[in-house]
Amino acid sequence: MGVWDTVRESLGEGVVSLLARVEEVLERAAGSEEGFVSQVTHHLLQAGGKRLRPALVILAGQFGQADREALVKGAAAIELTHMATLCHDDVIDEGVTRRGRPSVNALWGNSVAVMAGDFLFARAAALAAELGPEAVHLLATTMSTLCEGQVRELASKGSTARTLQEYLETIRKKTASLMSASCLLGASLARAEEEVRRVLGAYGELFGMAFQISDDALDMVGSEEELKKPPGSDVREGVYTLPLILALQTPQGRELREILAEGPPGPEGARRVVELVVASGVMGEVVRVAEEYAERAVASLASLPASPAREVLARLARFVLERMAGA
Ligand code: IPE
Ligand code: IPE
Ligand code: MG
Ligand code: MG
Repeated sequence: MGVWDTVRESLGEGVVSLLARVEEVLERAAGSEEGFVSQVTHHLLQAGGKRLRPALVILAGQFGQADREALVKGAAAIELTHMATLCHDDVIDEGVTRRGRPSVNALWGNSVAVMAGDFLFARAAALAAELGPEAVHLLATTMSTLCEGQVRELASKGSTARTLQEYLETIRKKTASLMSASCLLGASLARAEEEVRRVLGAYGELFGMAFQISDDALDMVGSEEELKKPPGSDVREGVYTLPLILALQTPQGRELREILAEGPPGPEGARRVVELVVASGVMGEVVRVAEEYAERAVASLASLPASPAREVLARLARFVLERMAGA
């Protein structure tokens, strides 16, 4: 998380103190009178995480007049929603590591992970309700989009025919939607002008696209130390992301298809897939696609008034690229 730490340092005192308040609200909202429920939710909460989405809410909230406590609640509601999707995502993906710790499903099984995810969703909804119908509506529509994205991904699992267009639409729904909603919620709580909201929503979506592409690139070529999980896990799960989609179109495609013909490979096969993807030379193109989204995210900010928050949003988009370059 090295690069993120340096971005965090540039957030400014006001934003940092709000993020500290978000932690307090998260702590309370993730708590339950059932000790076991608290144990499970706090396992995930205390494992850290970058808190990127709360930062987006608070930064977008600087483009108008926001009540500080409302922004804190909004940021916490978004992070709780994110945490809920992580609980469920690890069930779907059979992910065993999350935030550098064993995942909830790995420790306590799928049933507990599903219920913990639902619990976190419910706590997010309760916080959003305190903010009013617009926030509730935004969270609800975003969740439905996010679920559509996750289901789309399932539908293309193990398919070597997955297209670039299908991939992009899936990540827009499963990841970029929540990043966009984070910005829209901050802007809405700040009662920002319509045009400012539109710009921030567009920025969040472009940022989210760059973010997921970089995450997918890292899953392919990142080190185990950086990822806090073994590389190639998407391949083993049958989630064929941008690097593999592109590599299938190169001369290495023939051997890749042979390996993947019987369905998602085991650890040995996945290692060979990673080797072939790297040998195909597509990683440069993957970086370029991520760069293009990040650059468009930065460019989209141009019509906003210059401010420290605008600067940090631009830095965040670049952080995505630095994170990928560091792998
Ligand atoms: C993980 O998101 C899920 C993706 C969208 C790839 P983050 O990388 O923001 O997760 P945390 O919150 O820092 O753990
Ligand atoms: C991220 O899914 C999107 C959501 C959690 C909705 P991934 O499956 O790509 O993320 P990681 O790699 O498990 O964090
Ligand atoms: Mg997933
Ligand atoms: Mg996953």
